[in-house]
Amino acid sequence: MLKDHRIRAAIILLAATLIGGTALLVSWLRSPEYAGAQIGGPFSLIDQTGKRVTEQDFRGKLMLIYFGFVFCPDACPTALANMTDAIELLGPAGDDVSPVFISVDPERDTVEVLKDYAEAFHPRLKALTGTMEEIQKVAKEYRVYFKKAAETAPGEYLVDHSSIVFLMSREGRYLTHFTHMTLPEPMAAEIKKRL
Ligand code: NI
Repeated sequence: MLKDHRIRAAIILLAATLIGGTALLVSWLRSPEYAGAQIGGPFSLIDQTGKRVTEQDFRGKLMLIYFGFVFCPDACPTALANMTDAIELLGPAGDDVSPVFISVDPERDTVEVLKDYAEAFHPRLKALTGTMEEIQKVAKEYRVYFKKAAETAPGEYLVDHSSIVFLMSREGRYLTHFTHMTLPEPMAAEIKKRL
């Protein structure tokens, strides 16, 4: 009987260790520390004035980055409205946050198209485009997925894309993220903690 108890206790202990270890691993994989090691990187893109910019141009300020496309009917305008409203809620401190939109539809999102689009949201919004190669590189660095859907008419199509708002540090490191649904108040509160 005693032996049975010991074996049972050993099995329970082993099971608990496995479950506990797995839970720890899962929580670590989900943690910002893990994600932070993976998200972000250098880029070289063109802004809405036709100027080439790199990640270095944003050093010293927090970056609030969203990937999307101008013709997006829902998620993109929602994300950009929430991001820029959050920056406004921060008042003067909001000047230390650069809102950035990176197009995943460089075919249609030309400098001219991006100029009008950016102006509709915020005077400091940087709307970036580039070659498909340049966009694929930066999207990969941010673990952003995008895929052009079938054309419904010539030149008319949607682009399926991840909808994540990334908050990056003054040194360009990942801090946290939001979705396009995160409202300006909670977003501003999270940004404020990291200013
Ligand atoms: Ni979109």
